[in-house]
Amino acid sequence: MNARLSYNDCRLEFQRVKVVAFKIGLLGLGTVGAGTAEILLSPESRHSLLQELEIYRVGVRDISRTRSLQLPENVLTTDLEAIATDPEVDIVVELIGGLEPARSLILQAIANGKHVVTANKAVIARYGNEIFDAANAKGVYVMLEAAVGGGIPVIQTLKQSLGANRIKSVTGIVNGTTNYILTRMQTEGADFAEVLADAQQLGYAEADPTADVDGLDAADKIAILASLAFGGRIKLADVHCEGIRQVSAADIDYADKLGFVIKLLAIAQETSQISEQNGDAEGELLSIRVHPTFVPKAHPLASVNGVYNAILVEGDAIGQLMLYGRGAGAGPTASAVVSDILNVAAILKTETVPIPHPLLSCSHQHYCKIAEMQELVTRFYARFLTGDTPGVIGKLGTCFGNHQVSLESIVQTGIHGNLAEIVVVTHDVREGNFQQALDEIRAMEAVDSIASTLRVL
Ligand code: HSE
Repeated sequence: MNARLSYNDCRLEFQRVKVVAFKIGLLGLGTVGAGTAEILLSPESRHSLLQELEIYRVGVRDISRTRSLQLPENVLTTDLEAIATDPEVDIVVELIGGLEPARSLILQAIANGKHVVTANKAVIARYGNEIFDAANAKGVYVMLEAAVGGGIPVIQTLKQSLGANRIKSVTGIVNGTTNYILTRMQTEGADFAEVLADAQQLGYAEADPTADVDGLDAADKIAILASLAFGGRIKLADVHCEGIRQVSAADIDYADKLGFVIKLLAIAQETSQISEQNGDAEGELLSIRVHPTFVPKAHPLASVNGVYNAILVEGDAIGQLMLYGRGAGAGPTASAVVSDILNVAAILKTETVPIPHPLLSCSHQHYCKIAEMQELVTRFYARFLTGDTPGVIGKLGTCFGNHQVSLESIVQTGIHGNLAEIVVVTHDVREGNFQQALDEIRAMEAVDSIASTLRVL
């Protein structure tokens, strides 16, 4: 018998002997932590690399709590710092959420040479600079696929798959809670407060819904997406943020009649701004904002309903690309977390000394230049309550005209008591001009109130 092994036999033998176990230190065993552990504990029929991952430690607040998960013995601990500093741990997976101690634990893990996987958009949006500086100095990876869009692989797509493109815009429905509320308002004709209360009872909205309904969660997410898409750092304070509390059933109804739906959009797009000093173009700036928006019914984002998320990316080479899926929940988010763990494990397996992978690490240092909101050029919808007297529509039209705001339509449909309801939709206008016109209109004797204004996509 020939004792020599073929190349294939050698390869199989090598794989059999060299089963490297990468040790995972999991911080947090809530919904996403438990979903992640569940996938790691049942690697069958998933990617074969999963078989080389070991849940080594799991940090929780309360060990005595009854859990349905069958975790290996002695992995649970309440000492989260010990996990972040344990020399045995290769990858720290931070799934506790919140700012602290999550930020400190991530930094501790990095300082101890661990690669980090996190789903924590709040920490990355606020402390990403500090975290990526530390990670780059230490030569470790910080992966965050689960931080935006839950199971939607948008981070990898922006980091790797779309590298050939100059990105023009990223527009997303990235908050499931608000999309669920707006969808129900649309289908039931109900008001915000009514649907929010019901969504809280059903567990679709948090007891404290602030981060979701005020747009803060979406602002964190678009800051992260913009940073990757446009290759620069973003200060969260530069993201213009409006939530959905002021969206009324009347606006949803008008949107429908005018051929739109209202969505909370998170938008990052290239724009140009004229210098106030010398009238020259200031070069490419970024407009980055979160606000409820009139979306034409034929637009791909208009049909993204309920808790679903979608992100529409526009690149010079690819054109439009839309990613759609579940933006939250145990399974989808754990899918994203484990994909990051696999990416890190693949690097650890193939490189003896991991060097910063140019497509996986975040190395940009400069800050993106952000355009002022008043320079934004967009369409607007506005609803006015006015006296039902001759000449009001004319006065509104003249005022808008004086401020270079061109109107696409102006209609008076409803009467509220003795007040007339007048709705306008503008052509593309400079936001600063539109706001100046509104200031003047607000002061008109015939005008009772400006009931709402919303931007139109
Ligand atoms: N609270 C978020 C949402 C999910 O409603 O979409 C976590 O990012």
